[in-house]
Order: sequence, then structure tokens, then C-alpha cells
Amino acid sequence: MRGGAAAVRPRGAEYNRGWCGRHPPRTGHPRMSHFKYHVFFCCNQREPGETCCNNHGATDVRGYAKDRIKALKLAGEGKVRINSAGCLDRCDQGPVLVVYPEAVWYTYVDKSDIDEIIDEHLTHGRTVERLRL
Ligand code: FES
Repeated sequence: MRGGAAAVRPRGAEYNRGWCGRHPPRTGHPRMSHFKYHVFFCCNQREPGETCCNNHGATDVRGYAKDRIKALKLAGEGKVRINSAGCLDRCDQGPVLVVYPEAVWYTYVDKSDIDEIIDEHLTHGRTVERLRL
């Protein structure tokens, strides 16, 4: 493909299929992410007495985040996806979540921290440094 990126940027369906605007998909160039932000909450539950994110209410907090993202109409393709994950191998720093594509790791104490991550990072693209791991 020749010419400036602005001159060839696809619109509509082509854009949604992951064409980056400079390289057609068949070239093997990395495609755009299906979601703008993909958020993984560790919801792992270990045996009683063992450290894990679900001891801090991770499953409940993930559900809260999912509901809030839907209520804000931020859920879906090209927007935000909230997923639960198994152990992310940072148990001692938990509860943890990670936001892709930037791979920004967070910890949290309660739902107000989740609200801040949603309002700052997932809405405006601003990392919440005080919660970052
Ligand atoms: S249990 Fe959550 S990171 Fe391991």
C-alpha cells in the first residue's frame, strides 16, 4: 500500500476487521485489538488459609465492574471487556487485575478503587498511578 496513512484509512467494516489503516490484513501486520481495553480480574480461590485474590472479594468486585461498564455503555467490541481470570501469579500483591493492551497492573481495596480505574483509565486512558503495581 502506498501513500499516506490518512489517504488510505479504511472506514466501516474494513476498519472493524482490524485493518490498521496502513497495512492490509493479509500482510501479517498486527491487527487492531478487538477491544479497546481488555480487563482481567484474578478471581482465583485457593484452599482456606492460602493467599488468593478471591479472599478479597475479587469475584464480587469483577461483577461490580462488569455491571458498571455495561451501565456506562462502555461494553462491547471496540470498547471494554471485563473478564475473570485464574491465578495471575501475583497472589501476594492481590487482589490484582490487569488492563490490556497496555498491560497495566492494578490492585484495589474496594469498589471505589474500581470506580476510579473505570473513570480514569477505561474512560479517559489515564493510568491510576496510586493503584498501580
Ligand atoms: S490468586 Fe490472584 S494472582 Fe494468584
